Amino acid sequence: MTVRSVVVGFALLLVGFLTVPVQTGSTPARTRHGMVVSQSAVASAVGAEVLRDGGRAIDAAIATAFALAVTHPTAGNIGGGGFIVYRPAAGDPAAYDFRETAPAKASPTMFLVDGKYDSDRHHNSHLSVGVPGTVAGLHLAWKSHGTLPWKRLVDPAVALARDGFVVTDGLARSLAAMLPDFRRYPASLAQFSKNGEPYEPGDVLRQPDLARTLSRIADLGPAGFYEGETAELLEKEMLANGGLITREDLKAYQPKRREPLHGTYRGYDVLAMPPISSGGTALLQMLNILEGYDLRASGFGSALTLHRMAESMRRAYADRARYLGDPDFNPTMPIARLTSKAYADELRRSIDDEKASASQPTSFEWPSEGVETTHVSVVDKDRNAVALTYTLEYGYGSRIVVPGAGFLLNNEMGDFNAGPGLTNADGLIGTEPNLAQPGKRMLSSMTPTILARDGKLFMVTGSPGGRTIINTVLQTVLNVVDFGMNAQEAVDAPRIHHQWLPDRINHERFGFSPDTLALLRTRGHELREIGSQGVAEVIVVDAKTGALEGGIDRRAPDGGAAGH
Ligand code: DON
Repeated sequence: MTVRSVVVGFALLLVGFLTVPVQTGSTPARTRHGMVVSQSAVASAVGAEVLRDGGRAIDAAIATAFALAVTHPTAGNIGGGGFIVYRPAAGDPAAYDFRETAPAKASPTMFLVDGKYDSDRHHNSHLSVGVPGTVAGLHLAWKSHGTLPWKRLVDPAVALARDGFVVTDGLARSLAAMLPDFRRYPASLAQFSKNGEPYEPGDVLRQPDLARTLSRIADLGPAGFYEGETAELLEKEMLANGGLITREDLKAYQPKRREPLHGTYRGYDVLAMPPISSGGTALLQMLNILEGYDLRASGFGSALTLHRMAESMRRAYADRARYLGDPDFNPTMPIARLTSKAYADELRRSIDDEKASASQPTSFEWPSEGVETTHVSVVDKDRNAVALTYTLEYGYGSRIVVPGAGFLLNNEMGDFNAGPGLTNADGLIGTEPNLAQPGKRMLSSMTPTILARDGKLFMVTGSPGGRTIINTVLQTVLNVVDFGMNAQEAVDAPRIHHQWLPDRINHERFGFSPDTLALLRTRGHELREIGSQGVAEVIVVDAKTGALEGGIDRRAPDGGAAGH
């Protein structure tokens, strides 16, 4: 038996025996005891094994996240950052913020050359790399709520990186598309191509340097990443290429435990991510506005429902731009007001059911942003739940693999505003709350979210998609709560996006009838058809049977639910 056939056999075993197929149509995956839903079936299976071995939701989420760093390199990561919202079956919920930080040498003008904004510096260079938070954040969550040994959670990822896994059609396409970018960085090219030739579906991808780094993390915890060999290799790469991150920056990195935002929607409790993500604030704001309408009566996908949703989105995204940044640097952000029912009433009164409002471009158009993040939803047999969203920002982040350490670096510094006073109609933002400063976190849209009803877990949701994330998550909630969809239907249903500026509704193609779109135009909306929006991964608890329903987003390849 060849090594390859053993590896392939192992992967098929994992996928075949543990994953729960999504049936045809919109039947959700179903399990009774526990479930992991992620963008990689292999990574979900790793998490499900952890549940089967007696691990809790947090253990499974961590193991899945490390596995995704191997099998879903476009967004799974150890060189990026993200958020966890955690709801235990009993006790207090918690949020974990492991967003990247700006290094000590960062400054608000670091993306300018001779006073002029340089987009490459901001998004495509060693300067675009923030101090990674993932390893520290996962470890903090594990220390607080985990039950299995840390090493047990990292080891499956070590094995996948060392022994390899079978390249899927989706991964092969994605790596091939990225090849020109990888050519700029020899370590990236070596890791993600066969001597410069693209991987084919069915090939086995081994990442030995990554396996060694993961082993150090398995053995030493965060010290295996933020200190010693890994830190030295990262610093060396930075020093040689004009980057700013030093070993001191790495050592100083601190994940944070935060209070989740807590709102309500039609009797459901909604736990969501507080700033530095804008996701929870904007989500609660939109839910509060929409709560004042009978959406069930206006119906899924009707012009009136879509109009009300778009107007709610417009208002929440305007406030997001105006107010939100790192809370440690902006202590007076009016989060309580923004998420209050009274403020939502005020905003709702400004919505005319017959006519689109106009976004006032007093400030800016939004700049472009990556759409490669990834979300994991996990529920265990006791109904502890985890919503975890993390990212490298762009697909494959900065595309820079740290030589000798085998992991991709984020380009999250691109989520800071461009530079002081640079706000203009061409797409730059220079507003104060989100300018780069040493140790500061950059504003995010990631929206891991958990719903409960009468003290019992109801739904876990989240998605990638840059600024569209918040609206995608919103729609998964409306689809289940207002329109009575099951988890898979809620994920499959077509989506829209409005983000204040540019002032238009993006809608997924084949999603809405031409008649409906015409009615929206009559109200004054500009419309734009887009291919697809987001990759939501959702778990819903069936209120009657207590079983878990998984909704896997088939807009992207390779996703899977796994459980027992
Ligand atoms: O934190 C954020 O909001 C962005 N950096 C996320 C980027 C993203 O979602 C790309 N994903 N699909």
